[in-house]
Amino acid sequence: MIKIIEKIDELRKTLKEYRKNNKTIGFVPTMGYLHEGHASLIKRSSNENDITVVSIFVNPIQFGPNEDLDKYPRDLERDKKVAVENGANIIFHPKVSEMYPEKLYTFVNVENLDKELCGAKREGHFQGVATVVTKLFNIVNPDRAYFGKKDAQQLAIIKKMVKDLNFDIEIIGCEIVREEDGLAKSSRNSYLNQEEREAATILKKTLDKIREMIDNKETNVKKIIDMAVENIEKEPLAKIDYVEIVDLYTLEKVEEIKNDILVAMAVYIGKTRLIDNFDYKFN
Ligand code: PAF
Repeated sequence: MIKIIEKIDELRKTLKEYRKNNKTIGFVPTMGYLHEGHASLIKRSSNENDITVVSIFVNPIQFGPNEDLDKYPRDLERDKKVAVENGANIIFHPKVSEMYPEKLYTFVNVENLDKELCGAKREGHFQGVATVVTKLFNIVNPDRAYFGKKDAQQLAIIKKMVKDLNFDIEIIGCEIVREEDGLAKSSRNSYLNQEEREAATILKKTLDKIREMIDNKETNVKKIIDMAVENIEKEPLAKIDYVEIVDLYTLEKVEEIKNDILVAMAVYIGKTRLIDNFDYKFN
């Protein structure tokens, strides 16, 4: 039977018992509305740990004033089913008042890695993510924590934060899970109508074209980005937020492809902002 816990104290007490019995704890932080991408993280955690905790918390401090906090999709009953089916033992589902009982004076900033990509477009977003993940890590105190590679910048930021602040937690990045036509799974896909859903395949199709150019030894980033922009602009429902090629580790923009890189994009399909990426390694 899966336990649904809303209170921090109760979660701590429960996990203390498991730890006393030398059980390992895997942690999958989420904002709910679980899809197959989350399912793959939960499954991996339950294969690699004795106990898996899934947190479901739509974190208000990572949403900007014009973002989709209020309409962010929620469905606890369905989430429960996905969590159980994939081997989770505990869902931590705190209220906002439990996580933020008073005005927060302490924030976690991971500098530099938040300058490009989504960080440049969503001011304060990664501060909100790093802060809530720190709080969740301190509450759950897991052995391993699982994050999807779809949020590549988030994963890089969490890894650096864990290193810089000496969290004794192994961070595991898991591959992007896709629909049959290539669209990366995302809770936000549920906002798309049928026409938009079809248009949304432009992200993966463009990423594939970029990969092909790099495979064919194109190293000039401007040429690649120009091709990508032209390709996306052919789709009338798509509006580019950014298409960037950055160093895979520093997340700084590059002009020429020489070392390992991350190719990432954010594109509005109608009103819905979708992200996708791939990394390209040379050895
Ligand atoms: O990736 C997400 O769903 C969120 O950013 C996270 C890591 C759960 C923090 O709120």
